[in-house]
Parts: sequence; structure tokens; C-alpha cells
Amino acid sequence: MSAAALAAPPRFRGRMPLLRFLRTLRDSSVATYGEEMFEQAVVERRVLWQRYLIVNAPRGIERVLLGNAGNYVKSRVARRLIEPGIGRGLLTSEGDAWRRQRRIMAPAFDHRSLVSYAPVMTEATAALLARWDRLADGAPLDIAAEMMRLTLQIIARTMFSTDADGIGPIVEEAVGRYQREVRPGLLDLLNLPDWWPRPTTRPRSHIFDRLDAVIDRLVNREGAAAGESKDLLARLLEARDAETGHGMDARELRDQVVTIFMAGHETTAQALTWTWYLLSQHPAEEDKFHAEIDRVLSGRTPRFEDLAELRYARMVLEESMRLYPPAHTMSREALAEDEIEGHRVTKGSVVSIVPWLIHRHRLLWDRPDVFDPARFAPERTAARPRFAYIPFGGGPRICIGAGFAMTEALVILAMLGQRYRLRLAPGAAVEPVGLITLRPRHGLPMLLERR
Ligand code: HEM
Repeated sequence: MSAAALAAPPRFRGRMPLLRFLRTLRDSSVATYGEEMFEQAVVERRVLWQRYLIVNAPRGIERVLLGNAGNYVKSRVARRLIEPGIGRGLLTSEGDAWRRQRRIMAPAFDHRSLVSYAPVMTEATAALLARWDRLADGAPLDIAAEMMRLTLQIIARTMFSTDADGIGPIVEEAVGRYQREVRPGLLDLLNLPDWWPRPTTRPRSHIFDRLDAVIDRLVNREGAAAGESKDLLARLLEARDAETGHGMDARELRDQVVTIFMAGHETTAQALTWTWYLLSQHPAEEDKFHAEIDRVLSGRTPRFEDLAELRYARMVLEESMRLYPPAHTMSREALAEDEIEGHRVTKGSVVSIVPWLIHRHRLLWDRPDVFDPARFAPERTAARPRFAYIPFGGGPRICIGAGFAMTEALVILAMLGQRYRLRLAPGAAVEPVGLITLRPRHGLPMLLERR
């Protein structure tokens, strides 16, 4: 079919006036999506002259992330939001630089590494439990903040062999302020060239000044102890370009470290937060979850080998990431014209893949808004199109930390679920907001109940 004969994607019918759209987008991007998004495989939105396409069908998503991935680079719109803070790390780099970085980092995420991280994960979770045990039964806690602190500690210890006690609050502050302050403005959405002056990009990097100073210290310390450790930082320091023999410069190192800190803790913390929320609302599934933990572990600390036996817990986690995908939207830019599901994609279009939508698609999921972990039973998963469920993305840019995240989340769910039931605090309002990640707007106030 010739490009000219291709149907133009339908416009988003629930179109909001531009100002309302921008206000809504800055508050919570997921609130800009409407039911009509489910009616078409590709939906077009325009912000003035910039074309945005939302691809909302598994085959179309597969084309963007895998089949024709070479045509879709991370969009300037997304990079402009992320790069002022985390720089050009694995998450945002492209081409040869990306391939090289991915090759260097891959061993830190392989099976052997994951096995070696499990005891670090159990130790950090045990320390959290010891703190919880000192609180009275029924003590109120913000579980979102608790999960964030725990996953931050784990990423610092596993990847950088450092204790998060000093660095933790600094990273936490940087992430929190970044998510609050960095909201897309109209000029960001218009996909103007990088040299175009944009007032919104001005003040962002100062949020990271304190973090940069801490990372400098970390890199210098590790540099001095070269050869002793095999953590991710050591790998980054040792890496040499095959052609030039040069290592990473200070800026590159800093960007990789910040990327791993940022990408490596908040998403997992949000997945855990939503899981505790969902379990608290579904007592029958919660009972089943507890019963499995008790049967598999008989009260002892989980080992890596036990995690494969925690089948129901894994299904709960998967279902939680279906309903509340921490990475709710991925964004690409078309380098050249293409066709997706019969729709024409012009060069320069921004193409969004939205787990928040595809995971609740009316035609792909039975009772899509209902929490039902059983839908992740292996035979039901096998019967679904592969790209209907993409919490970790797909294709070559799939999350490098997916195995790490699943291991960590299962360890934490098992150990906390072994000892506690978490109850939603009375009167708590839980509302998802789509910033860079999907967070509960007011945190997650819960009460601890000893089992
Ligand atoms: C539940 C937890 C997590 C979720 C839902 C998640 C989700 C994602 C998604 C959707 C992408 C693809 C983005 C895109 O294609 O535009 C991604 C990429 C990435 N993630 Fe994760 N992630 C999680 C945990 C982690 C962890 C634990 C780490 C590191 C320790 C990590 C590091 C990264 C990096 C470095 C990339 C970029 C990979 C590349 O482009 O080659 N993530 N993640």
C-alpha cells in the first residue's frame, strides 16, 4: 500500500482545549487518556503542529519496540525531561554509544550476579523488619516512602558497594524534587531543535548538585580501590573502548551512576507500593499470598532458589504492574516514515507506547480493571499476544534491570508478608498520578498489623 493511501489515524475525540491539556499533562499525564483510546490501534494527537501517535495494539507496539526498532529513537521530548538530570546514560543514549554501554553493564545483571545480590536484598529487608518490629502494632507508615528507602539502599549496596545511609537522603531529595519540578511545558512538547532556547530547561540541573558531589566521592573511592571489587561501578571504571582503548570520562561515569540510581530504585519501589495497596483491598488474594509464603518458606529467610517457588506472589506482582505500571509511558521519535497497523507515521512524529493503556485494553483483557492475579497463570499468559503486557518495555531497549527488579520485589514481598499484613489507613485517598513514573499522589498511608 502506498503511503498516500494509508488512513490517517483518528484524532483523539476527547480532545481537550490546549491549555487544559497542558495543565492536565503537567499534573498527571495518565489523566489525559480517555476511553476512546481503546477504539483504535493508533490514535493521533496534535500539539499545534507536532504530531503525537499513541500506539495501542500489541502488533503496532511490537513494530516500534522490536520489528522496526532502528527507526524509533528515544524522543527529544522525553530526553529533554530526563537528560538535564540524569544525563546521557544507558536510558537515553543511542546507537554505538548505547550498544557499548549496554555491553559493559550486562554482566552486572546476569544470573550469577542476581544470585549474589539476593543476600544483600534479604539483609536490607531484615533491617527494615527490625525497625518495624520496634513499632507498636497498628503503627501508621507511609509505605511508598518505606519502599523507596529500601530499594534505594539495595541499589546502593548491590551496584556500588556503598551504604545508602549517607547517599540515600540526597538521592531521595533529588528524585522527589525532580519529579515535582520537571513537568513538560508547551515548548518541550513542540519538539523544537535542541538549540532552541527554552526557559523550562534552565534550573533543572541544580537539583543534582549535591548528588553529583556524592557521586564524585564514590567514583574516587572506587578508583583508588581498583581491582578489589566487581560491582557495577568497578566495571564502568575498568571498561575500555575496543577501538580507542579509552575509558569512560568523568561525565560519562557520573551519568551512568545517576541513571542506575534513578532507574534502579524508584520503579521497583512503586511496583511494591501498588502491590501492597492492591493486596490490602483484596483479602482473598492476600490470604492466598500469605499461605504460599508460609508453605514455601516455613518461617525462614528466602534464598534465591525459593523465589521460583513463590508462584502466586509472582502472579500478584505481575498483576499489580499490569494495573499500575510504574513506567506508564515510553516515547520514541520516528527517524523516517513508517507504517503502523495501516497508519502512516511521518518522519519526526512522536510515537508513544503506553503500558497504562495497553494493560487495561478493553479488547485484550477480560474485566480489565479487576485485580485478578490468576490471569498470569502460565497457560493464560502464553495465550496472550506478547506485547499486550510490557511493564519492562520490549525489544533491544528492554529494561536491563527486569530480572533484578523481580528478584528484589519477590524477596521484599516474601519477607514483609511473612511477618505483616498491611492495612490501608482509614480515610486514605489513593490516586495514581503519572509523573515520570506512576506514583500515588499522597503516598500510601498504611497500618502495620503483625500476622
Ligand atoms: C519494577 C521495576 C522496573 C520497571 C517497571 C522498569 C521499567 C523499565 C522500562 C519500561 C524500560 C524501557 C524504557 C523505554 O523503552 O523507553 C526500562 C529501561 C531501563 N531500566 Fe528499568 N524498570 C524497573 C527496574 C529497573 C532496575 C532495578 C534497574 C537497574 C538496576 C533498571 C534500569 C533500567 C535501565 C538502565 C534502562 C535502560 C535500558 C536501555 O535502554 O538499554 N530498571 N525500565
